[in-house]
Amino acid sequence: MTITALDRPGGPSPAGTDLAVMADGLVKTFGEQRAVDGVDLAVRPGEIFGVLGPNGAGKTTMLRMLATLLKIDGGHAEIFGVDVAREPHVIRQLVGVTGQYASVDEILTARENLWLFGRLQGIASKRARRIAEDLLAQFGLQDAADKPIAHFSGGMRRRLDLAASLITRPPLIFLDEPTTGLDPRTRGQMWETIRGLVADGCTVLLTTQYLDEADQLADRIAVIDHGRKVAEGTPDELKTAVGDSTLQLLLSDPDSVPAAAAVVRRILGSDPVLSPELGRLNVALEQADLAADVLIALRDSGVSIASMNVAKPSLDEVFLALTGHGTEEEENR
Ligand SMILES: Nc1ncnc2c1ncn2[C@@H]1O[C@H](COP(=O)(O)OP(=O)(O)OP(=O)(O)O)[C@@H](O)[C@H]1O
Ligand SMILES: [Mg+2]
Repeated sequence: MTITALDRPGGPSPAGTDLAVMADGLVKTFGEQRAVDGVDLAVRPGEIFGVLGPNGAGKTTMLRMLATLLKIDGGHAEIFGVDVAREPHVIRQLVGVTGQYASVDEILTARENLWLFGRLQGIASKRARRIAEDLLAQFGLQDAADKPIAHFSGGMRRRLDLAASLITRPPLIFLDEPTTGLDPRTRGQMWETIRGLVADGCTVLLTTQYLDEADQLADRIAVIDHGRKVAEGTPDELKTAVGDSTLQLLLSDPDSVPAAAAVVRRILGSDPVLSPELGRLNVALEQADLAADVLIALRDSGVSIASMNVAKPSLDEVFLALTGHGTEEEENR
């Protein structure tokens, strides 16, 4: 696969001072495991940069190192030209961090939480109260402002968590899987909120497991697998590498998966993602109308299909295209 723009001109700049985030060979080890294994990143001011990868890829670990919450074991990182390892107290002024799980106090109300966060950041009480009111309004949480967080829905928690990370108006925001577990409507609202932050001048570094989220939000995407960056590019570059759409086939007889896979390879020249136990087979299509060629060839080969669907590529197909293996492998390891 050739879209690995790792060696493209204008990649990580050695000086790094014009970048919001510059990471060079970042490493984190847990015992024997290299959870982050030499990642380079270059996030430009004013962009949304997406880090896309499956469970356990090292996304959270990377963000935590950049946010000074975890020690950097190898490599070098700068945020707006400030050395992360040497000047952690400055970095904490520059970065707002939103956790993968909303990190707010359960017993306190939303209003109290925001006020308390402000006070903990050294903001005077009256000003902290005003900022809390502004953020409650900005995030549509006014009606729920006096409810204890324990009664909040997942979407309300995420919004409060994000609001809390904005109290000090940091120029750079880290969002760790901002919409995992949210329903589609709440997800869309979160996307709007994130776009709004960037319109206000923030830079956003976000992690996600969803290609469509990276596609919707990110100006550029780095794909991470086993602690390494396997590709980088714009959403369009990544999608072009994978194909515009995916043909999903359910075969009448699960035993015919190998025969069907051979036909797909012959017609499309690319490898399908197989789930033999389910009788399923997915394959990227450069053009949706190639699906017809595959179906005709399958019928000619005597392979019978229970159902078929042409859909947008999922992270599975992106991974297969970029790494030669699917994301489920990791889950079974
Ligand atoms: N504190 C820790 N101690 C030991 N191993 C850890 C620790 N934190 C993370 N790991 C391991 O490092 C690897 C990367 O984990 P990380 O949480 O960064 O992945 P992730 O990409 O954020 O995954 P997810 O999408 O599930 O959040 C995993 O194998 C994880 O088990
Ligand atoms: Mg994570």
